[in-house]
Amino acid sequence: MRDLPWKTALITGASSGLGRGLARWLATRGVKVFAAARREAELRSLAEECAKMGGNVEPVRLDVADTQRTFATIGRIDVGCGGLDLVVANAGIGHETPATKLTWERVEETIQVNVTGAAATVCAALPRMLERNRGQLVGISSLGGFRGMPRSAAYSASKAFLWVFLESLRVDLSGSGSRVRVTTIYPGFVKSELTAKNRFKMPFLLETDEAVERIARAMARGDAELAFPWQMASVTAAARLLPTPLWTAVAARARPSKKGAISGAP
Ligand SMILES: NC(=O)c1ccc[n+]([C@@H]2O[C@H](COP(=O)([O-])OP(=O)(O)OC[C@H]3O[C@@H](n4cnc5c(N)ncnc54)[C@H](OP(=O)(O)O)[C@@H]3O)[C@@H](O)[C@H]2O)c1
Repeated sequence: MRDLPWKTALITGASSGLGRGLARWLATRGVKVFAAARREAELRSLAEECAKMGGNVEPVRLDVADTQRTFATIGRIDVGCGGLDLVVANAGIGHETPATKLTWERVEETIQVNVTGAAATVCAALPRMLERNRGQLVGISSLGGFRGMPRSAAYSASKAFLWVFLESLRVDLSGSGSRVRVTTIYPGFVKSELTAKNRFKMPFLLETDEAVERIARAMARGDAELAFPWQMASVTAAARLLPTPLWTAVAARARPSKKGAISGAP
């Protein structure tokens, strides 16, 4: 792969899964990474792991649901490092929120992290990138955000928010002559702490490192979007075309008790 277009990067949700993998991928290729999450011990172990491979990772304790802190932290880091080249809004949670057992606590927490936290991350970084007329914003949405998936009202809706939010920003920026890029990633099922608790079948489940490699390469190419794996992306593309009554009937047949049924979102 040719030289990477970034010297500095900030990744939220870098203590595990995709965020941790992306932080390691970037740091071991010479990018200075600010790794943000709530679990400091995990971030410290990531920094130590990368240091052994010559990488530079700075742990950043951050709860993205605290928007004031998110703005202050990203602003401070941006000034301190001379401008972040890459900001990845990756932090996310994946509670089930079935309609018959819907609780506000779960819905609210999902919105605070996946919607408010992701939007705050982007809003804290974008104006500074525009001033410099360089930089790249990346959001980790999901294939589960293209339709209302079973038992996943809050999660699916939160990922739909990030998809549309970033798409609209991309439209504005492309028409403005700005060199700031926006990349949205729509993964299918990937092994991580988030999916480890799923008891339903997860077709085409990818290893974390494989998913990280695909995401990192798409980011480095400056792609607008990446949906993967292609099998799940194709199914999702077809599902998007279904009329609502048909989708409702098909998706409603998925029950967690049904052996092998997909009854949740990636
Ligand atoms: N795995 C999949 O199949 C899949 C598919 C599609 C999309 N995604 C998306 O990919 C992203 C990464 O998920 P993952 O699969 O890698 O899951 P994961 O291993 O559970 O990682 C989630 C990360 O988000 C962080 N996080 C959670 N709440 C946070 C908060 N309030 N503030 C800051 N960080 C927070 C966690 O760190 P702390 O707990 O230390 O704060 C953790 O580092 C998520 O947005 C997820 O929705 C995953």
